Amino acid sequence: MSLVYAPDSAVAIVADWAWRPNSGIVTRSTGQEIPMAKGWHILGAGAIGCLFADALASSGAPTTLVLRANTPSAPPLQMERNGQTHTRSLSSTNAPDVSPIDHLLVTTKAYDVVSSVNSVRHRLTADATIVLLANGLGYAEDVASLVPGANLYCGTTTEGAFRRAPWHICHAGRGQTLLGAFAGRASTPDWFDDWQALKLECRWTNTIHAALWHKLAINCAINPLTARHRCHNGELANNPVFARQVTELCKEIADVSRAAGFDDIAHSIKGDAFDVIQRTAANRSSMLQDTLAGRSTEIEFITGHLVNRAEQLDIEVPANRDLLEQIRNA
Ligand SMILES: NC(=O)c1ccc[n+]([C@@H]2O[C@H](COP(=O)([O-])OP(=O)(O)OC[C@H]3O[C@@H](n4cnc5c(N)ncnc54)[C@H](OP(=O)(O)O)[C@@H]3O)[C@@H](O)[C@H]2O)c1
Repeated sequence: MSLVYAPDSAVAIVADWAWRPNSGIVTRSTGQEIPMAKGWHILGAGAIGCLFADALASSGAPTTLVLRANTPSAPPLQMERNGQTHTRSLSSTNAPDVSPIDHLLVTTKAYDVVSSVNSVRHRLTADATIVLLANGLGYAEDVASLVPGANLYCGTTTEGAFRRAPWHICHAGRGQTLLGAFAGRASTPDWFDDWQALKLECRWTNTIHAALWHKLAINCAINPLTARHRCHNGELANNPVFARQVTELCKEIADVSRAAGFDDIAHSIKGDAFDVIQRTAANRSSMLQDTLAGRSTEIEFITGHLVNRAEQLDIEVPANRDLLEQIRNA
């Protein structure tokens, strides 16, 4: 028998099974061994990584956190939701270790994706599955070159989580996670069956590139301006000067979207951006929080990516370019 924790309560319950980390095998108390959900390694054990690690482990998937070199193993994770906190013990490994990795979920910030995948490249099996779940665009192509044999998937999430303290994660807002194949249209992979059973809502899409571009477009219209003006999202609509800037950014974003083949997004971006601003009026964007805390921002993978794409398509985007420079130099 083993002790596990009911995911949505602080109450420990007794289970008649146990799993060996990374084995993909669950051993019942009778000694019977049964194949369980695929084992996942989580690279980027921050707010989103721990949220998914907790959900995967809760569903019975052998789940291992991948920590930087020379980092001590993770203490039990405190996961807080709706005012209740449960504890989850997860196994961990350091990136330079040698045990193989066949299913990798990457949840670092965008600017750490490529270097972090590189740090475990020697451990990836020949046909490893890699799911990239960071914000922004531009790093997946580099990962595809780095590990050409891998089955690469991308995702975007509206789940909200933050680190209250080291190894104490607060799941602040439920959302949805969209996943799809980097290569484009593809049948739903086997591993996704396990993800559909998670306590986090996950959906498969054959148009992940449009979903990622839509998220990028919204982020370009909101996040850098909130960081520039040090304001909550809602002020972008309430302050007429800021609202005109949102409109100007959206016009350029629409031009690039149309030229990049995303006509629907070009058509809807301004309305969608103001809709998000209204719905998240009280929020402080992650870019604002990073700027205030003196941390690196993901600007190069958000506005930076838009500006690069505009250059390739020979489109002028002066408002986005100015904003990019301002955030770079903030
Ligand atoms: N948090 C949210 O609510 C939310 C919502 C939607 C999307 N996102 C996106 O999800 C991504 C992750 O966000 P987050 O809030 O979870 O960030 P986070 O809390 O900063 O977590 C990132 C984690 O990655 C780790 N990491 C970086 N490089 C690594 C390496 N080479 N090896 C091992 N670990 C490494 C960091 O470790 P260190 O602390 O040691 O640097 C940190 O624990 C971002 O792209 C973000 O925009 C977040």
